[in-house]
Amino acid sequence: MRVLILGSGAREHALAWSFSKSKRIAGLFCTPGNAGTGELCVNFPGVSVNDFDGIYRICRENRINLVFAGPEAPLSAGIADFLIRRNIPVIGPCKNGALLESSKSFSKNFMEKYSIPTANAEHFTEYESFKKYINGRNGKIVIKKSGLAAGKGVLETEIKEEALIFGRKILESDSLIAEEYLEGFEVSVFALSDGKSYKVLLPCSDFKKAFDNDKGPNTGGMGSISPVPWVNTELNDRIMSGIVEPTFSALKNEGIDYRGILYFGLMITDEGPKVLEYNVRFGDPETQALIPLLKTDIGDIAEAIIQQNLSSLSIEFSGESAVGVVIASKGYPDEYRKGIPVTSLPKGNNKDLLIFHSSTYRDDSGRVMTGGGRCFTLVGLGKDTITAAAKAYHEADKVNFEGAWYRSDIGKKFFLT
Ligand code: AMP
Ligand code: GLY
Repeated sequence: MRVLILGSGAREHALAWSFSKSKRIAGLFCTPGNAGTGELCVNFPGVSVNDFDGIYRICRENRINLVFAGPEAPLSAGIADFLIRRNIPVIGPCKNGALLESSKSFSKNFMEKYSIPTANAEHFTEYESFKKYINGRNGKIVIKKSGLAAGKGVLETEIKEEALIFGRKILESDSLIAEEYLEGFEVSVFALSDGKSYKVLLPCSDFKKAFDNDKGPNTGGMGSISPVPWVNTELNDRIMSGIVEPTFSALKNEGIDYRGILYFGLMITDEGPKVLEYNVRFGDPETQALIPLLKTDIGDIAEAIIQQNLSSLSIEFSGESAVGVVIASKGYPDEYRKGIPVTSLPKGNNKDLLIFHSSTYRDDSGRVMTGGGRCFTLVGLGKDTITAAAKAYHEADKVNFEGAWYRSDIGKKFFLT
């Protein structure tokens, strides 16, 4: 199997790491990749995930027979449709399936049509009716841009003026939804789908707020854990029967042949689990914690998806727990500098500590440089969440570059009573 991974984040580094251990791999490539994937794959730093012709050229020249799409943007733009037409199998849905993420209006309608539990919402396409709605209600509300927003399209607020400013800005170029604020705890659930059947992986939790104790602005995710100690058998059953199963049967009913990863972003409320969002790919940083726990060869998993054999593959996990801590650049999630030299990294890639790079690159003299706001995910592995967190935090201060910082409480809320 000759695999091309699309993306440059720590999620893609984790996938590359897993594929690099696969017994099925005869060639591993990543575009554009980062300094971390560069240790495991051939990178193509000049070809972005949205450069379809460039991706096709890499596939032809390197006899790629499987493309794994990391991020949502190329999927929403139709990379799977494009490559499948050229006989290159892709892990990732076609454009019609990717709508579940690329249009929150579409996904909300989908959930409403099939009675899949989610927050009550109103759709708006113009400002005056939105303003009337906001002025007529009280309490906390969530405003969401319908289209892709790279983590910047959601505002939770009680302040009417703030809601109006945020909504007006969105309505200049898109539609929006305003929905009730749900209380509870969040869980990310990932299912693999081959179009005929699906398999669900271990639950994960993403720590989205910038600072300790879930304070500060939303980020792409400052850390993750897997599995999630609070997801017991009963809750798991409710998630499967109330959300996952109805979603896949709705996809079938809509005639959407979904082949790839479906991500259920859930809020576990007093009334049970509800969908906050669907994504059509693995989560970042959830993947960095989840993938190291896989015991089954990722090459076998990828092949089963492509050959629509998933139902006969048993997917096994190591039984350990993982905690991922994101090391970010000063200023993130607002303005931050790129191109800061990384002066030290702990020794990763051993049985209880892994380091995944995000958007790093090597300069002309071979130094690793930062290239984004979230720069690394350090993943600790251990017999339980506490042990795994201790492993990651023991090494976190060994990641050195000017302005490096991290949350110090990833996983903690799950072991406080
Ligand atoms: P989304 O892109 O829809 O997942 O929203 C990003 C984040 O905003 C979620 O992970 C939640 O932390 C928060 N969020 C979104 N919708 C709601 C909601 N209805 N109630 C509470 N928090 C929400
Ligand atoms: N962890 C959130 C996301 O990947 O969208």
